[in-house]
Amino acid sequence: MASAPVNASSVPDGYLSTNFMDLLSLSRTVQVVTGGARGIGLALAFAIAEAGGQIAIIDAAPEPHANYALLQSACDKVEYYQSVSLSLPLAFASLDYGTPSTDACECLRGHRSDVTDHGRLSNTFEDIVRDFGRVDGIITAAGICPDQPFLSRDPASVKRCLEINTLGTYYSVQLAAAQMTKQPTLPGRAGAGSVVMIASIAAHQASKDQHTSDYCMSKGGVLALTKQLGVELASHQIRVNCLSPGYIATDMTAELIEKRPLLGEIFNSEPPMKRIGDRKDLKAAAVFLLSDGSAYMTDAEMLITGGMHAGRI
Ligand SMILES: NC(=O)c1ccc[n+]([C@@H]2O[C@H](COP(=O)([O-])OP(=O)(O)OC[C@H]3O[C@@H](n4cnc5c(N)ncnc54)[C@H](O)[C@@H]3O)[C@@H](O)[C@H]2O)c1
Repeated sequence: MASAPVNASSVPDGYLSTNFMDLLSLSRTVQVVTGGARGIGLALAFAIAEAGGQIAIIDAAPEPHANYALLQSACDKVEYYQSVSLSLPLAFASLDYGTPSTDACECLRGHRSDVTDHGRLSNTFEDIVRDFGRVDGIITAAGICPDQPFLSRDPASVKRCLEINTLGTYYSVQLAAAQMTKQPTLPGRAGAGSVVMIASIAAHQASKDQHTSDYCMSKGGVLALTKQLGVELASHQIRVNCLSPGYIATDMTAELIEKRPLLGEIFNSEPPMKRIGDRKDLKAAAVFLLSDGSAYMTDAEMLITGGMHAGRI
C-alpha cells in the first residue's frame, strides 16, 4: 500500500512522535530462529528476548547448548516485566538472567526439526502458529561449514552443505513469509514481517587457509536470494535483508580451531580490527533488521567483519 504523496505543506514529521527505543522494540512480535540451539542463532535469540520478542527456535540438534536454560530465564523475565508494564531496558539493566530455568515459558518454544526436510519443517511452522498465533520475523542461522580441498570434496557432503545452508534457508523463509501474508499486521507496526538471513563474508571472498568451496557457493546463494526476495516480497510489505559476518567465535569456529590451530591465529589477525568477532557484535544489528527501526530497509546486506570485507593490512 503506497503512502500519500508528500507535498510542500505536508512533510511528514513522524520522527517527533516515534522514539528510537520504540522503533527497536520487538514487543508483541513472534520471531523464528533456525539454528538457534547454539552459536550465532542462540545469541540472537537472547537479543530478541531482550528486545521483548517471543521466540520459536528450530534446530536439528538433539539437545540445545547449556545456555538455552538461561534464555528460558531471560524469557521469563520479559514475560514478567511486560505483564506488569515495566520497561524492558530496566529488566536487563544488570545483565543478570537469573538462575537457569528448565520450565517452559510462554514466550519461548524449541522445536527439534531439520531445515532440509520440507514436510517436517512445514509441520513445525504449523506448531509455531498454533502456539503463538503468528510469525513476524525470521533469522535463518542453521548452517554447517565443511572444510576440504575442492579436488577431493565428497559429492554427498557437498550436497548436504547446499541442502542445509541454501535450500534449508529457502524453505524456512518461504514458510515464514507464507504465514506473514496470511495474518493481520500487528497494530502500530510497520509492514507484515522481516526476514534476516545469515549469509557470510564467504559470499564475497575466499577465506585464508580454508577450503570451503561449497560453503562459499551456498552463502552466495543466500545473498542472491536476499536480493531477489527483497524485491519480490516488497508488495507484501515483507522486508528481506541479510547479515554477513566475518569470523565470529562460536562452537563452529572453535571446532575448526581445534582441528587446525593455525586458524585461531588467522581469525584474530586477518580482520583489520585484529580480533575475531564476538556474537554480541551481531545482536544489535539483528534486532535492528527485525524491528521497525529498519522499516525502509530491504534488499540490504550488513557486513560485520571487523573491516575484512574491505581489505587486509
Ligand atoms: N561463526 C562464524 O564465524 C560465521 C561466520 C559467517 C557466517 N556464519 C554462519 O552463521 C550461521 C551459524 O553459524 P554458527 O557459527 O553459529 O554455527 P554453529 O555450528 O555453532 O550453529 C549452527 C546451528 O545450526 C544447527 N543446524 C545445522 N544443521 C541443521 C539442520 N539441517 N536443520 C536445523 N538446524 C541445523 C546446528 O544444530 C547448530 O545449532 C551459519 O549459517 C554459518 O555459516 C558463521
